[in-house]
Amino acid sequence: MNFYLCLICGNVIELIDGVANRIACCNQEMELLVPNTVDAALEKHVPFCEIVDGKVNVQIGEVVHPMVEDHYILFIAIVKGSKISRVDLKPGMEPKATFTYEEGSTIFAYCNKHGLWKKDI
Ligand SMILES: [Fe+2]
Repeated sequence: MNFYLCLICGNVIELIDGVANRIACCNQEMELLVPNTVDAALEKHVPFCEIVDGKVNVQIGEVVHPMVEDHYILFIAIVKGSKISRVDLKPGMEPKATFTYEEGSTIFAYCNKHGLWKKDI
């Protein structure tokens, strides 16, 4: 599962399958987002997960990430093989989501300032 960013308008897209040679937005090639590579506070970006009764409760950051107008988590997603569930978020909401837990899943979160983050669970 790969995510791409438009450096002009900030659009983020998800490539469902296959290999993309060139994905463009705003007449410019989009950038492949590589998780956990931006120099930012790990404790506010790495998904913090608790597994309870077959569910995984996710909070972005062991220290909760801000959710203000110019700095917030756009989405939290859980990926297992070809399956994805995603919760879209807006400023003012809590950066939290609950998903059905499956062993071997990966949680992704995207911060509009600090990029893509993930945690294998
Ligand atoms: Fe951030």
